[in-house]
Amino acid sequence: MTVIEKAYAKINYYLEISGRRADGYHELETVMQTVSLADTLTVTRVAGEGITLETGAALPADDKNLVVRAANAYFAASGAPFGCHAVLEKRIPIEAGLGGGSADAAAMLRALNRLDKGRFSAAELAEIAVKIGADVPFLIVGGTALCRGVGEVMTPIESTLHAPIVVAKMGEGVSTPAAFGALDSHFDNFIDFRSDHTPVPLLAGLQAGDGEAVAASIFNRFEAVVADARPAVGALLDFLCRAGALAAAMSGSGPSVFGIFRDAAAAEAATAALSAMGADAFACTPTEAISL
Ligand code: C5P
Repeated sequence: MTVIEKAYAKINYYLEISGRRADGYHELETVMQTVSLADTLTVTRVAGEGITLETGAALPADDKNLVVRAANAYFAASGAPFGCHAVLEKRIPIEAGLGGGSADAAAMLRALNRLDKGRFSAAELAEIAVKIGADVPFLIVGGTALCRGVGEVMTPIESTLHAPIVVAKMGEGVSTPAAFGALDSHFDNFIDFRSDHTPVPLLAGLQAGDGEAVAASIFNRFEAVVADARPAVGALLDFLCRAGALAAAMSGSGPSVFGIFRDAAAAEAATAALSAMGADAFACTPTEAISL
């Protein structure tokens, strides 16, 4: 039996850091949205036990790959490992702030659960997922969500915003731990950030499908530290705004940026122009939550 899962990338409409925990992880408040830019994971049940992974791209196929870690975590939780062969087709840029590796891990957990006749509930899968990465629980279901804690405490949001979104990345990737480290040196333990950071106008804008209200509230705390080191980030943000985006921001720990557009034709034209400039650029749309 074979199952095919799309691994949707995410963007962050909003990302604020509210504190640093004793274990070094950061408490954050973020509004995440999955978009139609996706990898494809094809998983076939085979004889034997454990996972083999095939990746076309220059990616590790051992347990450095989150897909393999996800499979190992799944089998450890089920106590009933079976054999599977996974083929990963990559489209999401890596180390880009788009959650690509986490999306692949989430797709693997969904695929194994389907091959395993729905052994785990969505909540149980989320518990396995958080051990692999802070944004993996969100990427199992996707859609729109307000996420707190280290990213794993999720409140689904009923977004009616279907605006075209252009995602673009230029230059080398950014390591997430390094970006958090840069925030630590820059913001002196986040003492200024202790209050309630819920982005109420943004959430209302998403619920009302009001692109202008959303555009007025998008924010990413990482932008301040990553954009300094990466001039391409500022250049892409400027380009998106000149090309008609209502607003643009960096996604996650960067260096990808996204712009929210009013109409698809402008989004397509901006994507073509960005590709001609040498960026990895994708015209996409928000995707809805998956029901497991
Ligand atoms: O959870 P994930 O593996 O994606 O995180 C990668 C790294 O980013 C962690 O090892 C940690 O250094 C940092 N991180 C953090 N606070 C978070 C999420 C990640 O400091 N909420």
